[in-house]
Amino acid sequence: MVAGVAGSGRGGWGGRGRPWWTWWTWWTSDPRVDTSTYYARSLTISRYMPTVYYEGEEIECEEGAVLRDVLRKAGLSVYNGPSEQLNCRGMGSCGTCAVKVDGEVSEPGKKEKARLWFPPHHPSHDVRLSCQTRVMGDVEVTKGRGIWGQHV
Ligand code: FES
Repeated sequence: MVAGVAGSGRGGWGGRGRPWWTWWTWWTSDPRVDTSTYYARSLTISRYMPTVYYEGEEIECEEGAVLRDVLRKAGLSVYNGPSEQLNCRGMGSCGTCAVKVDGEVSEPGKKEKARLWFPPHHPSHDVRLSCQTRVMGDVEVTKGRGIWGQHV
């Protein structure tokens, strides 16, 4: 009979009288072990990465990523002219980030629908606010003319 803390498990997963998590802690804290590669490999094997096509570029992103953020991270802009500086920074109120999307994206929410009812936009224009749109699969994106990108 072994005296000690319950679950310390001599002869269990860890062997040598140590519970398995102490080995895990040691392994992940060892500076010689590159755990980032370990995690990255295990994650990339199972993760689907949609592609966004915009202005001749192909950008891979996380599923569910916000379209505006994906394009900005890739150094691309969804704004025309002065709206590059004069925009709501992704709050869904200015409407200048409007783009035409062709592919799998999230459904528009209340805020986005409300903004797209307000001129110069109109639901018949078939555009989406890139700051309110999440990428769910491969998507082709087109920016229209005009400060709001309303002329697709
Ligand atoms: S950035 Fe203003 S609505 Fe998208």
